[in-house]
Amino acid sequence: MENSAIMADQSIQELESRSLARVASAGSPEELEAVRVEALGRKGALAQISKEMGKLAPEERARIGKLLNSAKQKLEEALESKKRHFAEAALRARLDAEWIDLTLPAPGPRRGHLHPITRIQRELEDLFVSLGFTVLDGPEVETEYHNFDALNIPADHPARDAQDTFWLDGGNLLRTHTSPVQVRGMERLGPPLRMIAPGRTFRNESVDASHEHTFYQLEGMMIDRDVSVGHLIYFMKTMLTGVFQREVTVRLRPGFFPFVEPGFELDIQCLICGGAGCPVCKQSGWVEQLGCGLVHPNVLRMSGIDPEEWNGFAFGLGLTRLAMMRYGIDDIRHLQGGDLRFLEQF
Ligand code: PHE
Repeated sequence: MENSAIMADQSIQELESRSLARVASAGSPEELEAVRVEALGRKGALAQISKEMGKLAPEERARIGKLLNSAKQKLEEALESKKRHFAEAALRARLDAEWIDLTLPAPGPRRGHLHPITRIQRELEDLFVSLGFTVLDGPEVETEYHNFDALNIPADHPARDAQDTFWLDGGNLLRTHTSPVQVRGMERLGPPLRMIAPGRTFRNESVDASHEHTFYQLEGMMIDRDVSVGHLIYFMKTMLTGVFQREVTVRLRPGFFPFVEPGFELDIQCLICGGAGCPVCKQSGWVEQLGCGLVHPNVLRMSGIDPEEWNGFAFGLGLTRLAMMRYGIDDIRHLQGGDLRFLEQF
Protein backbone atom coordinates (compact mmCIF):
# COMPACT_ATOMS: atom_id res chain seq x y z
CA MET A 1 0.00 0.00 0.00
CA GLU A 2 1.29 3.45 -0.89
CA ASN A 3 2.24 5.79 1.89
CA SER A 4 -0.12 8.57 0.98
CA ALA A 5 -2.98 6.06 0.83
CA ILE A 6 -2.25 4.99 4.42
CA MET A 7 -2.17 8.64 5.46
CA ALA A 8 -5.56 9.22 3.80
CA ASP A 9 -7.00 6.10 5.50
CA GLN A 10 -5.95 7.37 8.89
CA SER A 11 -7.02 10.95 8.48
CA ILE A 12 -10.46 9.93 7.19
CA GLN A 13 -10.98 7.62 10.15
CA GLU A 14 -9.73 10.21 12.60
CA LEU A 15 -11.81 12.94 11.07
CA GLU A 16 -14.86 10.73 11.12
CA SER A 17 -14.58 9.77 14.74
CA ARG A 18 -13.58 13.26 15.88
CA SER A 19 -16.45 14.87 14.00
CA LEU A 20 -18.99 12.32 15.22
CA ALA A 21 -17.83 12.97 18.79
CA ARG A 22 -18.22 16.72 18.30
CA VAL A 23 -21.70 16.25 16.86
CA ALA A 24 -22.64 14.11 19.84
CA SER A 25 -21.44 16.70 22.32
CA ALA A 26 -22.71 19.80 20.46
CA GLY A 27 -24.83 21.94 22.76
CA SER A 28 -26.46 24.21 20.19
CA PRO A 29 -27.42 24.38 16.50
CA GLU A 30 -24.57 26.89 16.06
CA GLU A 31 -21.96 24.41 17.30
CA LEU A 32 -23.43 21.80 15.01
CA GLU A 33 -23.16 24.12 12.04
CA ALA A 34 -19.50 24.79 12.87
CA VAL A 35 -18.77 21.05 12.79
CA ARG A 36 -20.54 20.73 9.46
CA VAL A 37 -18.59 23.58 7.87
CA GLU A 38 -15.26 22.28 9.15
CA ALA A 39 -15.82 18.68 8.06
CA LEU A 40 -18.17 18.77 5.09
CA GLY A 41 -17.92 22.36 3.88
CA ARG A 42 -16.52 23.30 0.49
CA LYS A 43 -13.18 24.09 2.10
CA GLY A 44 -13.63 21.50 4.84
CA ALA A 45 -11.39 18.58 5.82
CA LEU A 46 -13.06 15.96 3.61
CA ALA A 47 -12.86 18.27 0.63
CA GLN A 48 -9.15 18.68 1.25
CA ILE A 49 -8.62 14.93 1.32
CA SER A 50 -10.57 14.34 -1.86
CA LYS A 51 -8.39 16.95 -3.56
CA GLU A 52 -5.33 14.87 -2.73
CA MET A 53 -6.87 11.74 -4.21
CA GLY A 54 -5.59 12.58 -7.68
CA LYS A 55 -2.17 11.49 -6.52
CA LEU A 56 -3.25 7.92 -5.74
CA ALA A 57 -3.15 4.84 -7.85
CA PRO A 58 -6.55 4.10 -9.46
CA GLU A 59 -7.39 1.06 -7.25
CA GLU A 60 -6.41 2.99 -4.11
CA ARG A 61 -8.45 5.93 -5.30
CA ALA A 62 -11.59 3.76 -5.51
CA ARG A 63 -11.07 2.37 -2.01
CA ILE A 64 -10.36 5.78 -0.44
CA GLY A 65 -13.28 7.24 -2.36
CA LYS A 66 -15.60 4.66 -0.75
CA LEU A 67 -14.20 5.44 2.65
CA LEU A 68 -14.70 9.13 2.04
CA ASN A 69 -18.30 8.63 0.92
CA SER A 70 -19.12 6.46 3.87
CA ALA A 71 -17.58 9.00 6.30
CA LYS A 72 -19.49 11.79 4.63
CA GLN A 73 -22.76 9.85 4.79
CA LYS A 74 -22.32 8.92 8.47
CA LEU A 75 -21.52 12.52 9.37
CA GLU A 76 -24.47 13.87 7.43
CA GLU A 77 -26.80 11.42 9.12
CA ALA A 78 -25.45 12.30 12.55
CA LEU A 79 -25.74 16.01 11.84
CA GLU A 80 -29.27 15.63 10.53
CA SER A 81 -30.46 13.63 13.49
CA LYS A 82 -28.86 16.01 15.99
CA LYS A 83 -30.43 18.95 14.14
CA ARG A 84 -33.82 17.30 14.41
CA HIS A 85 -33.17 16.79 18.11
CA PHE A 86 -32.52 20.52 18.58
CA ALA A 87 -35.64 21.49 16.61
CA GLU A 88 -37.79 19.16 18.69
CA ALA A 89 -36.35 20.50 21.93
CA ALA A 90 -37.01 24.07 20.81
CA LEU A 91 -40.60 23.22 19.91
CA ARG A 92 -41.12 21.46 23.23
CA ALA A 93 -39.78 24.51 25.10
CA ARG A 94 -42.10 26.80 23.18
CA LEU A 95 -45.14 24.63 23.79
CA ASP A 96 -44.28 24.45 27.48
CA ALA A 97 -44.07 28.23 27.67
CA GLU A 98 -47.33 28.73 25.80
CA TRP A 99 -49.25 26.22 27.79
CA ILE A 100 -52.26 27.54 29.62
CA ASP A 101 -54.67 25.80 31.93
CA LEU A 102 -58.10 26.51 30.52
CA THR A 103 -59.74 25.02 33.59
CA LEU A 104 -58.28 27.70 35.90
CA PRO A 105 -60.86 30.25 37.06
CA ALA A 106 -60.61 33.50 35.04
CA PRO A 107 -59.38 36.60 36.91
CA GLY A 108 -62.70 38.32 36.11
CA PRO A 109 -63.42 42.04 35.67
CA ARG A 110 -62.07 44.48 38.22
CA ARG A 111 -64.72 45.22 40.78
CA GLY A 112 -65.89 48.82 40.61
CA HIS A 113 -68.35 50.83 42.64
CA LEU A 114 -70.87 53.58 42.15
CA HIS A 115 -69.77 57.15 41.52
CA PRO A 116 -70.37 59.40 44.56
CA ILE A 117 -72.97 61.41 42.64
CA THR A 118 -74.83 58.25 41.60
CA ARG A 119 -74.84 57.10 45.21
CA ILE A 120 -76.40 60.30 46.50
CA GLN A 121 -78.85 60.31 43.60
CA ARG A 122 -80.02 56.79 44.44
CA GLU A 123 -80.31 57.57 48.14
CA LEU A 124 -82.45 60.61 47.36
CA GLU A 125 -84.61 58.59 44.97
CA ASP A 126 -85.24 56.04 47.73
CA LEU A 127 -86.00 58.77 50.23
CA PHE A 128 -88.47 60.59 47.97
CA VAL A 129 -90.11 57.38 46.78
CA SER A 130 -90.74 56.59 50.46
CA LEU A 131 -92.47 59.99 50.68
CA GLY A 132 -94.79 59.21 47.76
CA PHE A 133 -92.82 60.90 44.96
CA THR A 134 -92.39 59.47 41.46
CA VAL A 135 -88.95 59.51 39.80
CA LEU A 136 -89.13 61.05 36.32
CA ASP A 137 -86.56 61.28 33.57
CA GLY A 138 -86.35 63.97 30.90
CA PRO A 139 -84.26 64.67 27.82
CA GLU A 140 -80.87 66.38 28.10
CA VAL A 141 -81.48 68.02 24.73
CA GLU A 142 -84.49 70.19 25.44
CA THR A 143 -86.78 72.50 23.55
CA GLU A 144 -86.53 76.19 24.26
CA TYR A 145 -90.16 76.04 25.34
CA HIS A 146 -89.63 73.46 28.11
CA ASN A 147 -86.34 74.90 29.34
CA PHE A 148 -87.47 78.55 29.39
CA ASP A 149 -90.87 79.71 28.13
CA ALA A 150 -93.01 77.21 30.05
CA LEU A 151 -91.08 78.20 33.18
CA ASN A 152 -92.17 81.80 32.83
CA ILE A 153 -88.88 82.86 31.20
CA PRO A 154 -89.84 84.42 27.85
CA ALA A 155 -87.25 85.16 25.18
CA ASP A 156 -86.56 88.72 26.34
CA HIS A 157 -86.33 87.85 30.06
CA PRO A 158 -83.00 88.77 31.75
CA ALA A 159 -83.06 85.44 33.65
CA ARG A 160 -81.99 83.79 30.40
CA ASP A 161 -78.64 85.54 30.66
CA ALA A 162 -77.91 83.80 33.96
CA GLN A 163 -78.34 80.41 32.29
CA ASP A 164 -76.25 80.67 29.16
CA THR A 165 -76.07 77.30 27.47
CA PHE A 166 -75.14 75.38 24.34
CA TRP A 167 -77.62 75.91 21.52
CA LEU A 168 -78.06 73.31 18.83
CA ASP A 169 -78.97 73.74 15.19
CA GLY A 170 -82.76 73.86 14.90
CA GLY A 171 -83.32 75.81 18.11
CA ASN A 172 -82.98 73.06 20.74
CA LEU A 173 -80.50 73.39 23.58
CA LEU A 174 -78.69 71.44 26.29
CA ARG A 175 -80.95 71.92 29.29
CA THR A 176 -79.60 74.39 31.83
CA HIS A 177 -81.50 72.85 34.72
CA THR A 178 -83.79 69.90 35.50
CA SER A 179 -86.78 72.25 35.79
CA PRO A 180 -88.11 71.40 32.28
CA VAL A 181 -88.94 67.97 33.71
CA GLN A 182 -91.43 69.76 36.04
CA VAL A 183 -93.19 70.94 32.92
CA ARG A 184 -93.11 67.49 31.34
CA GLY A 185 -94.41 65.99 34.60
CA MET A 186 -97.30 68.43 34.79
CA GLU A 187 -98.15 67.94 31.10
CA ARG A 188 -98.15 64.18 31.34
CA LEU A 189 -99.40 63.41 34.84
CA GLY A 190 -101.44 66.45 35.93
CA PRO A 191 -102.33 67.23 39.56
CA PRO A 192 -102.01 66.07 42.27
CA LEU A 193 -98.33 65.46 41.56
CA ARG A 194 -95.27 64.49 43.55
CA MET A 195 -92.21 64.02 41.41
CA ILE A 196 -88.46 64.27 41.42
CA ALA A 197 -86.18 64.37 38.38
CA PRO A 198 -82.47 63.78 38.80
CA GLY A 199 -80.21 64.34 35.82
CA ARG A 200 -77.41 65.96 33.95
CA THR A 201 -77.47 69.66 33.19
CA PHE A 202 -75.27 72.03 31.22
CA ARG A 203 -74.18 75.64 31.26
CA ASN A 204 -71.76 77.70 29.27
CA GLU A 205 -69.53 78.34 32.29
CA SER A 206 -65.84 78.94 32.64
CA VAL A 207 -64.66 76.01 34.70
CA ASP A 208 -63.11 76.55 38.14
CA ALA A 209 -63.07 74.82 41.55
CA SER A 210 -66.83 75.21 41.94
CA HIS A 211 -68.17 75.53 38.36
CA GLU A 212 -68.47 72.96 35.62
CA HIS A 213 -70.12 73.14 32.22
CA THR A 214 -71.67 69.74 32.97
CA PHE A 215 -73.15 68.95 36.36
CA TYR A 216 -76.02 67.15 38.05
CA GLN A 217 -79.21 68.44 39.60
CA LEU A 218 -82.21 66.94 41.25
CA GLU A 219 -85.53 68.62 40.69
CA GLY A 220 -88.58 68.16 42.88
CA MET A 221 -92.16 69.26 42.61
CA MET A 222 -95.28 68.76 44.62
CA ILE A 223 -98.68 70.00 43.39
CA ASP A 224 -101.70 69.57 45.59
CA ARG A 225 -104.30 71.66 47.40
CA ASP A 226 -103.16 74.22 50.00
CA VAL A 227 -99.44 73.57 49.76
CA SER A 228 -97.44 76.07 51.86
CA VAL A 229 -93.87 77.21 52.45
CA GLY A 230 -94.11 75.14 55.65
CA HIS A 231 -94.44 71.96 53.55
CA LEU A 232 -91.52 73.04 51.42
CA ILE A 233 -89.25 73.58 54.42
CA TYR A 234 -90.30 70.26 55.94
CA PHE A 235 -89.32 68.33 52.81
CA MET A 236 -86.05 70.23 52.39
CA LYS A 237 -85.01 69.51 55.97
CA THR A 238 -86.00 65.87 55.69
CA MET A 239 -83.95 65.58 52.54
CA LEU A 240 -80.79 67.24 53.89
CA THR A 241 -80.86 65.32 57.16
CA GLY A 242 -81.14 62.14 55.09
CA VAL A 243 -78.17 63.03 52.94
CA PHE A 244 -75.81 64.23 55.65
CA GLN A 245 -77.07 61.95 58.44
CA ARG A 246 -76.81 64.83 60.90
CA GLU A 247 -78.26 68.23 61.63
CA VAL A 248 -76.99 70.75 59.10
CA THR A 249 -77.21 74.48 59.55
CA VAL A 250 -79.32 76.00 56.80
CA ARG A 251 -80.38 79.48 55.92
CA LEU A 252 -83.16 80.61 53.61
CA ARG A 253 -82.70 83.79 51.61
CA PRO A 254 -85.12 85.40 49.23
CA GLY A 255 -84.14 84.25 45.75
CA PHE A 256 -85.47 85.09 42.33
CA PHE A 257 -86.51 82.39 39.91
CA PRO A 258 -89.20 83.38 37.41
CA PHE A 259 -91.04 80.08 37.91
CA VAL A 260 -91.65 80.41 41.66
CA GLU A 261 -93.24 83.07 43.85
CA PRO A 262 -92.11 83.52 46.56
CA GLY A 263 -88.66 82.12 45.72
CA PHE A 264 -85.77 81.19 48.00
CA GLU A 265 -82.16 80.21 47.99
CA LEU A 266 -81.38 77.57 50.56
CA ASP A 267 -77.77 77.58 51.75
CA ILE A 268 -76.08 75.15 54.09
CA GLN A 269 -73.15 76.02 56.24
CA CYS A 270 -70.03 74.82 54.45
CA LEU A 271 -69.21 71.32 55.68
CA ILE A 272 -65.71 71.45 54.25
CA CYS A 273 -64.41 74.39 56.28
CA GLY A 274 -67.16 74.46 58.92
CA GLY A 275 -68.02 78.03 58.00
CA ALA A 276 -64.54 79.55 58.25
CA GLY A 277 -64.17 80.10 54.50
CA CYS A 278 -62.57 78.01 51.72
CA PRO A 279 -62.50 77.87 47.89
CA VAL A 280 -65.73 75.85 47.70
CA CYS A 281 -67.79 78.38 49.68
CA LYS A 282 -65.86 81.22 48.07
CA GLN A 283 -64.67 82.23 51.57
CA SER A 284 -68.25 82.97 52.67
CA GLY A 285 -68.83 79.99 54.96
CA TRP A 286 -72.10 79.16 53.17
CA VAL A 287 -72.79 77.04 50.14
CA GLU A 288 -75.79 77.60 47.95
CA GLN A 289 -77.44 74.20 47.89
CA LEU A 290 -80.74 74.68 46.16
CA GLY A 291 -83.31 77.06 44.78
CA CYS A 292 -86.93 76.62 45.75
CA GLY A 293 -90.29 78.32 46.15
CA LEU A 294 -93.98 78.08 45.48
CA VAL A 295 -94.83 77.35 41.88
CA HIS A 296 -95.76 80.51 39.97
CA PRO A 297 -99.41 80.54 38.82
CA ASN A 298 -98.29 81.27 35.24
CA VAL A 299 -96.30 78.03 35.22
CA LEU A 300 -99.31 76.01 36.39
CA ARG A 301 -101.58 77.68 33.89
CA MET A 302 -99.18 77.12 30.97
CA SER A 303 -99.17 73.39 31.69
CA GLY A 304 -102.97 73.26 31.91
CA ILE A 305 -103.38 73.32 35.70
CA ASP A 306 -105.88 75.72 37.29
CA PRO A 307 -104.01 77.85 39.89
CA GLU A 308 -107.31 78.64 41.64
CA GLU A 309 -107.65 74.97 42.55
CA TRP A 310 -104.05 73.75 42.81
CA ASN A 311 -100.74 75.06 44.01
CA GLY A 312 -97.38 73.61 44.96
CA PHE A 313 -93.72 73.92 45.64
CA ALA A 314 -90.67 73.16 43.54
CA PHE A 315 -86.98 72.91 44.22
CA GLY A 316 -83.83 72.34 42.24
CA LEU A 317 -80.81 70.94 43.99
CA GLY A 318 -77.20 70.82 42.87
CA LEU A 319 -76.42 67.10 43.17
CA THR A 320 -72.79 67.69 42.26
CA ARG A 321 -72.40 70.30 44.94
CA LEU A 322 -74.18 68.07 47.44
CA ALA A 323 -71.70 65.26 46.73
CA MET A 324 -68.82 67.69 47.25
CA MET A 325 -70.21 68.76 50.61
CA ARG A 326 -70.86 65.25 51.80
CA TYR A 327 -67.49 63.82 50.79
CA GLY A 328 -65.40 66.93 51.45
CA ILE A 329 -64.33 67.33 47.83
CA ASP A 330 -62.79 70.76 47.35
CA ASP A 331 -62.65 70.87 43.56
CA ILE A 332 -65.59 70.08 41.28
CA ARG A 333 -63.21 69.07 38.46
CA HIS A 334 -62.20 65.89 40.30
CA LEU A 335 -65.70 64.43 39.92
CA GLN A 336 -65.67 64.14 36.13
CA GLY A 337 -61.89 64.00 35.77
CA GLY A 338 -61.83 60.28 35.07
CA ASP A 339 -58.98 59.63 37.50
CA LEU A 340 -59.70 56.30 39.19
CA ARG A 341 -57.26 57.08 42.01
CA PHE A 342 -59.67 59.82 43.01
CA LEU A 343 -62.88 57.79 42.60
CA GLU A 344 -61.56 54.72 44.40
CA GLN A 345 -61.47 56.68 47.64
CA PHE A 346 -65.25 56.66 47.98
N1 PHE B 1 -83.84 75.55 38.21
C1 PHE B 1 -83.20 76.43 39.18
C2 PHE B 1 -81.69 76.48 38.87
O1 PHE B 1 -81.18 75.62 38.23
C3 PHE B 1 -83.39 75.92 40.57
C4 PHE B 1 -84.82 75.95 41.03
C5 PHE B 1 -85.65 74.87 40.80
C6 PHE B 1 -85.31 77.04 41.71
C7 PHE B 1 -86.95 74.88 41.26
C8 PHE B 1 -86.59 77.07 42.15
C9 PHE B 1 -87.41 75.98 41.92
O2 PHE B 1 -81.03 77.38 39.30
